[in-house]
Amino acid sequence: MSPSEASLAPLRPSDTNRGELPVVRHAPHPELRETVVRVTSVVKEYDGRRVLDGVSFELERGRVYSIIGPSGCGKTTLLKSMLGLVDVSAGAIELVGVDVASVSESRVDEVRRRIGVVFQSAALLSSVSVFENVALPLRLHTKKKESEIREVVEHKLGLVGMQDALDRRPSELSGGMKKRCALARAIVMEPDLLFLDEPTSGADPVTAAVLDDLVLDLTRRIGCTAIAVTHEMRTAFRLSHEILMLWKGRIHHKGAPASFIESDDRLINQFVQGRKEGPMTG
Ligand SMILES: Nc1ncnc2c1ncn2[C@@H]1O[C@H](COP(=O)(O)OP(=O)(O)OP(=O)(O)O)[C@@H](O)[C@H]1O
Ligand SMILES: [Mg+2]
Repeated sequence: MSPSEASLAPLRPSDTNRGELPVVRHAPHPELRETVVRVTSVVKEYDGRRVLDGVSFELERGRVYSIIGPSGCGKTTLLKSMLGLVDVSAGAIELVGVDVASVSESRVDEVRRRIGVVFQSAALLSSVSVFENVALPLRLHTKKKESEIREVVEHKLGLVGMQDALDRRPSELSGGMKKRCALARAIVMEPDLLFLDEPTSGADPVTAAVLDDLVLDLTRRIGCTAIAVTHEMRTAFRLSHEILMLWKGRIHHKGAPASFIESDDRLINQFVQGRKEGPMTG
């Protein structure tokens, strides 16, 4: 294996957490708690079919959340609604203190610059290198000099273990490497909010564990709030301070991972244990 191949070998969980910043998840001091996302009674209909039916919740700064729920229950729709990528039919969404429906488009753009997103498909530009994909938000939204851009991009690609893949095209990357590149791009502006749609989809269990570790490490370094939509209960349990379960257009339960494990709610039990029989299929 050449040195550059070696550095592209899958990361081990310990590689992502270089010792100086142990991942310790604890509740912020109550006085330091700050609501950074407030979703109030959000309704979304597609062609008269109601997908979100009065979704309300609040998220706090510096915490990691997962949104879980069966396929088609509206997780991606909720994420896109929060990002303003789909118009909601009713309700209010406040991000970092700004009610995004009631302010000017330029103010919404400002808010968007404080958000990093990893889409389900990674959504990398296929025609340019890994370096240029990660540099893109800096080129679009800052006036940084080329030397500064290089420094920031190389640092972020280093954090995700991709420092030796700068010149590769996305088509030359594995699925896990694409996710890491998308993560580097999502954090390049050091966002307040990090949205992730299925951060481990398609990854084997070990790579999924590494990606989970990486998300935790990055959110801790940057101090952002992360919201991950996921099918993977293992990812939800590993990542989250709190999990939000979406069911029939509403938040069925929001709480710490332990509250899902200890719950005697039949719906939660069925989903967490991945059982065929139960209210979800009944
Ligand atoms: N643009 C659209 N137009 C019409 N219906 C849509 C559109 N996007 C999503 N839907 C419908 O809304 C429902 C929720 O879809 P969504 O993609 O949000 O689910 P999901 O929970 O993310 O599913 P998965 O876990 O499979 O990714 C589905 O029934 C879907 O068919
Ligand atoms: Mg989805």
